[in-house]
Amino acid sequence: MENFSFMNPTKIIFGKDTIKEISKEITGRKVLITYGGGSIKKNGVYDQVIKALASFEFYEFGGIEPNPHYETCMKAVDLIKEKSIDYLLAIGGGSVIDATKFIASAACFENGDPWQILERKGEIKKALPYGTVLTIAATGSEMNDGAVITKAATKDKLPFSSSLLYPKFSVLDPEITYSLPARQTGNGVVDAFVHVIEQYLTYSTEDTTFQDNMWEGILRTLISEGPKALKEPRNYDARANIMWAATWALNGWFAQGVDQDWATHLIGHELTALFGLDHGQTLAIVLPGVMRKLSEQKSVKIKRLGKEIFSIKEESSSELIDKTIQATEDFFELMGVKTHLSDYNLGDEAIEKVGNRLNERNWKLGECYNITGDVAKEILKLRK
Ligand code: NZQ
Ligand code: ZN
Repeated sequence: MENFSFMNPTKIIFGKDTIKEISKEITGRKVLITYGGGSIKKNGVYDQVIKALASFEFYEFGGIEPNPHYETCMKAVDLIKEKSIDYLLAIGGGSVIDATKFIASAACFENGDPWQILERKGEIKKALPYGTVLTIAATGSEMNDGAVITKAATKDKLPFSSSLLYPKFSVLDPEITYSLPARQTGNGVVDAFVHVIEQYLTYSTEDTTFQDNMWEGILRTLISEGPKALKEPRNYDARANIMWAATWALNGWFAQGVDQDWATHLIGHELTALFGLDHGQTLAIVLPGVMRKLSEQKSVKIKRLGKEIFSIKEESSSELIDKTIQATEDFFELMGVKTHLSDYNLGDEAIEKVGNRLNERNWKLGECYNITGDVAKEILKLRK
């Protein structure tokens, strides 16, 4: 295990009827609530938040799109400056929370265009404080310091992070997720599953037993509870277990001391940026391809995944690997997320575009930095 030093300062307020707690947590004087396309107005979340904010001066910024745009975020920054807002409250999923992370940084950015943060040319030195009310179990953004923002003008979808960007608090009320469409429940479970895989399924040998066991606990939870939530959307225990598991899949703790991959995500981001696929859909396509292409490098962990998680008992190594990759794909399909490019009407042209973009950026992805744009093309060719 590698050395590490880590702190995650986000306070979690978990459970039924907990939105009202936000009034005790917000330390600002003027609050901006940020939200998406309106689901919170249909499922009662907006009304609960407004009630809890009765004693605050607050403003609203709605209309944040899935895979949030830099251009949209900058409109919120204008409003913050105009009204001297000093605290943000994100109400939504990864998109709204990520947008809020960018807005919080951009509002305090003093060296020109805040897009430089995404280009790794501008450092975040200060950010507005913010809390979140999570409405979908998926990204872990509610308890981490990362975000992903898209520049619509150039179709660049890029990640950034800063230790200044952990939410001050996050409210996780599983009942809020009852209203999720099946597609988003499926996407969320696949996303959390792949977050674990990005940090667990590397070339590593077996020196991180603790982290591996914790990762496997998250995977088992997603595999048992995910299908239950699809079948019974109002099953509280299924929703609660998925929500807490998804938070732990990307809150940084079990990532300490281990190697990480993230190639599936970065290839997937291009599929979203160029062709508009949901984040979870891109992962369901790409991951089985990464496992197949890198099966030698990752063989120890693929076989462990097969035995421990999918209970596959095969004699030969290659059979075990084949069946594990198939079981992973089958789980995504069971969650209603399609796993091939053709399911989304994409083919060779898309593969070329994605690979070329990665080559243009000169990215070398994966835990061994050996996935170039050309290798990404080979991965995607396995997923037609
Ligand atoms: O916009 P509204 O109307 O609210 O509808 C949303 C949206 O259409 C809907 N929804 C959310 N909660 C709902 C609901 N509908 C009914 N009831 C509810 N309770 O679901 C749709 C998707 O929402 P979104 O926030 O886009 O989903 P998700 O949480 O999957 O976020 C995806 C974004 O997060 C980024 C992704 O790249 C993508 O941009 N990620 C962020 C990460 C992070 N910050 O750590 C890591 C991830 O790997 C990921 O890259
Ligand atoms: Zn993800």
